[in-house]
Amino acid sequence: MSLNGTVILPGDKSISHRALMLACLADERSTLHNVNRGADVKSTASLLKRCGMDIVWKDDTVQIQGAGREPFLQPHLPLDCGNSGTTARLSMGLLAGFPLQVTFTGDDSLSQRPMNRVILPLRQMGARIATRDQGYLPVMLTGGELWGIHYDLQIPSAQVKSAILLAGLNAQSETSITSPLPSRDHTERMLKALGAKLKITDDSIVVYPLKKPLSAQDFTIPGDFSSGAFLLTAAVLVPGSEVILQGVSLNPTRTGFLDILKAMGANVVVSKSGTKIGEPFGDIQIQAGALQATTVNPDQIPNIIDELPLVALLATQAEGTTVVSGAAELRVKESDRIEAIVANLRNWGAQIEATPDGFIITGPTRLNGGFVKTHHDHRIAMMMSVAGLIAKQQQPVHLDDPACMDISFPGFLRVLEKLQNP
Ligand code: S3P
Repeated sequence: MSLNGTVILPGDKSISHRALMLACLADERSTLHNVNRGADVKSTASLLKRCGMDIVWKDDTVQIQGAGREPFLQPHLPLDCGNSGTTARLSMGLLAGFPLQVTFTGDDSLSQRPMNRVILPLRQMGARIATRDQGYLPVMLTGGELWGIHYDLQIPSAQVKSAILLAGLNAQSETSITSPLPSRDHTERMLKALGAKLKITDDSIVVYPLKKPLSAQDFTIPGDFSSGAFLLTAAVLVPGSEVILQGVSLNPTRTGFLDILKAMGANVVVSKSGTKIGEPFGDIQIQAGALQATTVNPDQIPNIIDELPLVALLATQAEGTTVVSGAAELRVKESDRIEAIVANLRNWGAQIEATPDGFIITGPTRLNGGFVKTHHDHRIAMMMSVAGLIAKQQQPVHLDDPACMDISFPGFLRVLEKLQNP
């Protein structure tokens, strides 16, 4: 059944985490609207509450009383980051410059994800950090005086970059960062808009120690492009569909998936409506259509890292062979996503092969439907739910853990259903 209608998406998850954290460093009350209500952002809010912050939720509006230059109190319990890598890594950087002793924990998946990528630069800045199991949660951090460093990132990770930038706000001197490729730049945009001093060139980012509290925010968080990408994919694949995403984030470090859609032949129209707190937003309109295969190169990967499960699904329906390379980072996401994508789509009949850093897919193939092993990974569960819309109808989709979709997009299946019955 075709999908038709206009959708206002839940707030962008990456921006929501950062808006909550940066609001703590203001000296007045911030009001954030359309905050993402998924479990990951809730983990960030609980962590900040545990560190003494006054945070009140009402539906998707959050009020936070900033506390200026010394915002955090010593928590008495471990800081549980749940399933959220962004919560764990960014808050290590955020808290490292304050005289606190904290322990970060997480669920089984997060406890198997690498933390040394954040621990090593924060240690160089002067934070004392111990781990129970070499570079994995639980992580014990003793914060305090930090000094500025130059750090050359080995992987283009926005989480690591952001952790260093947040720590740099409280260092004694400036901190500079270089990266092999650009990554999402919400932290830089928002910090600048809220009054922090940063110098950004093509080659590096320099953050200067904060001299005064950040400005408080009255901010409507734009819709989550990565959540919207599931609906764009559904609309392009199901014949007769036409969907509009309204007020969605159009941050250019996040929208590379639109270039992939266009390269595959999709009919996409983007119209920008404004910018708030440094973040551009607008509308995206898409129609169903035939697709051809494409090649995704390593330099495109950071921009589309969270959309790669959808690139795989699109490729199963495109004419020709699609090759994705340079995406080894997918192996250390909420699940080993290369493994999870390949096993599930192949199980449904796709011609897909894993490589160490990506996958090769030849299409088009009619997918069978049936069982999905989600690996408790929200993006795998949502991608396979979209795949179910075009699968042979005799095999209903059976997800082993549908609830994991609440990590980033509570109500996702209801939105899909509503688009099918406008
Ligand atoms: C995120 C950065 C990306 C992304 C994740 C959210 C962020 O991770 O995959 O979903 O909010 O900074 P990496 O920085 O590890 O690439």
